[in-house]
Amino acid sequence: MKVLVVGSGAREHAIVRSLVLDPSVDEVVAAPGNPGIAAIAACEPVEGGVSSPEGVVALATRVGADLVVIGPEAPLVAGVADAVRAAGIACFGPSAEAARLEGSKAFAKEVMSAAEVPTGLAHLCTTVEEVEEALDALGAPHVVKEDGLAAGKGVVVTDSREDALEHARACLAKEGGAVVVEEFLDGPEVSLFVLSDGAVVVPLSPAQDFKRVGDDDAGPNTGGMGAYSPLDWAPAGLVDDVVARIAQPVVDEMRRRGTPFAGVLYVGLALTARGPRVIEFNARFGDPETQVVLARLLTPLGGVLRAAAEGRLESVPALRWSPDHAVTVVVAAESYPGTPRTGDVISGSDAVAGEPDAFVLHAGTALDEEGRLVSAGGRVLSVVATGRTLAEARRRVYAAVDGIGLDGSHHRRDIALKAEQGLVTA
Ligand code: AMP
Ligand code: GLY
Repeated sequence: MKVLVVGSGAREHAIVRSLVLDPSVDEVVAAPGNPGIAAIAACEPVEGGVSSPEGVVALATRVGADLVVIGPEAPLVAGVADAVRAAGIACFGPSAEAARLEGSKAFAKEVMSAAEVPTGLAHLCTTVEEVEEALDALGAPHVVKEDGLAAGKGVVVTDSREDALEHARACLAKEGGAVVVEEFLDGPEVSLFVLSDGAVVVPLSPAQDFKRVGDDDAGPNTGGMGAYSPLDWAPAGLVDDVVARIAQPVVDEMRRRGTPFAGVLYVGLALTARGPRVIEFNARFGDPETQVVLARLLTPLGGVLRAAAEGRLESVPALRWSPDHAVTVVVAAESYPGTPRTGDVISGSDAVAGEPDAFVLHAGTALDEEGRLVSAGGRVLSVVATGRTLAEARRRVYAAVDGIGLDGSHHRRDIALKAEQGLVTA
């Protein structure tokens, strides 16, 4: 089969890498892709950009795709999956209606309430007065979330009522601005990706993401600075529990409403003292968690995604997983998560091939006029390594990262460190 992958980040690079390794996949095209993806697959621009339904359909038709896999949230929310399916092409990715589980936090809360899914108490506010009341009702630490897509940067968690209010004011000042003020959920976070064809759900292996920019979770939230999988410290039965109490009820509720969710439901959880609570849903694979989850998936990816897209997940045999541990570390450009510096030359990314079981996935990279690899975004590279133990995977990933040169770049040194030391408990 021929697969078109929409997107240009390290998540899409990981997806393309797995598809290329699938013997049932004859050809992979990425749109628009990036220089790293171009080394293993064809890359094509999309007329009008990845969020243009007409552009993606035209490209999928032209390349003769049997399956379209949509990586990022923006095209999903823009209805690209609907358009691809309407053109008679199988699509892995939910409809615009179903992607509202990610696109609107208020909608997600409403569905969770209808499906009796455990999550934090929340107030939807459209005025500063409502925000003040909600902050006082829920108490510190305060959690204020913008009600819309914000690339992981729309959330402020703070002990300062003033900082919480300031973030809320900034969000409310935008057109149609609304914020969700939420109960603080205390406990380690887990990302669980659940594939669905609209009815059946198949969980992947859980991962943990590091959202804050600095070591020891210092500084602002980012799109994600690193991840690892599996989670040896997670309670036995966690995945089954999350499927039974969260993923299946949500998929059932979406189907009942006539807007079935087909694609990957990203369940972001806090494992609180009272059990798992949903922090957020996303309607797509997480980045950088996908890089470590797919590094361990032994079942060929293309067949599974196609089965989900065609409503045949029930027929897919149990997924097989490597017992190895995988760690990814994101190399970010200077000033990220603020406006990143771009155009700096990246060195050493090819030399990583010399490290055992390590590889580099590209995110914000480009080739300059002289054909040199340069930075072109906030998260530049996602370096991945596997090992028999978490310690071995960490050693390998940092050896690879240390061989990469990028002026002004930064990365976390403590990805998966607490887990390696046995200091994460749920
Ligand atoms: P979100 O955009 O909803 O994924 O939130 C981004 C990050 O903010 C999460 O991964 C958490 O680290 C943090 N966060 C969001 N909501 C809460 C909450 N209710 N309690 C504690 N931390 C939260
Ligand atoms: N890793 C967080 C996200 O993909 O939203």
